[in-house]
Amino acid sequence: MPTGIQGLDELISGGFPRGRVILVLGGPGTGKTILAAQFLYKGISEYGENGIFVSLDESQNHFYSEMMKFGWDFKKAEEEGKFLFVDATRLSRVALLKEKLLKEETSSLRGKQLQIDKLIEEVQAKIQQIGAKRVALDTLASLFYRFLDPIERRTASVDLIEALSDLGATTVITTELSYLGLERNMMDEEFLVHGVVMMQTLFSGGTTTRALQVEKMRGTSVNANLVPYTIDKNGIEIFPAMSVFREK
Ligand SMILES: Nc1ncnc2c1ncn2[C@@H]1O[C@H](COP(=O)(O)OP(=O)(O)OP(=O)(O)O)[C@@H](O)[C@H]1O
Ligand SMILES: [Mg+2]
Repeated sequence: MPTGIQGLDELISGGFPRGRVILVLGGPGTGKTILAAQFLYKGISEYGENGIFVSLDESQNHFYSEMMKFGWDFKKAEEEGKFLFVDATRLSRVALLKEKLLKEETSSLRGKQLQIDKLIEEVQAKIQQIGAKRVALDTLASLFYRFLDPIERRTASVDLIEALSDLGATTVITTELSYLGLERNMMDEEFLVHGVVMMQTLFSGGTTTRALQVEKMRGTSVNANLVPYTIDKNGIEIFPAMSVFREK
């Protein structure tokens, strides 16, 4: 499935494997949300493939206005029946803090898992509603605050990834490196998904460079080099023929 993101399809011989789950990993501000949104918007505008954005991070209005800065009119796409926004911010950190204050039942493990099950049902219903081919979930890292126990957390994210891979759409899930731990061991999340794309900001000699690497993409041959990318008013562009390391 061509992502439509400049330069990315070239890196992964044409696009993401259809119907599979791709994990986008990166630090804060690396452009994970933009990449996920761009994948959906290009699907709608260039390939006639409807999309769903599942947000654990930001509200619908905030998302719509942020994405308009790139000229991506998700509100219009929604009105045309091509896009749906799923607000899952109730699973986020802020929601958790509010619940703590209210001492609600939802902080129990059973309560938390029920919320994940409900979210999966909601996504499934919305996929059917508009015949969505693309789904983005932003961000798995938000579960970090809800499931402080590492084993509970891993169970929850594994459940979520497995459920999403059963839905038939091609799915991008973003997460933060800090969520997986500073020691970047391969985590269960990475074994479960079909592709892993890593985004990072490199600092060297007073300058910063954005760099992207495809760490894994089952079923396709990939260029696994660390390559530069930029973010500008058109979104993300990747430069597969360039190296981030200066050539002498
Ligand atoms: N028009 C633009 N031109 C250049 N850079 C931009 C533009 N719009 C956004 N950015 C950059 O994009 C980055 C934010 O992108 P995004 O929100 O997708 O990151 P993120 O990885 O999701 O961050 P977070 O961890 O905060 O969720 C910032 O570094 C910002 O400087
Ligand atoms: Mg983000």
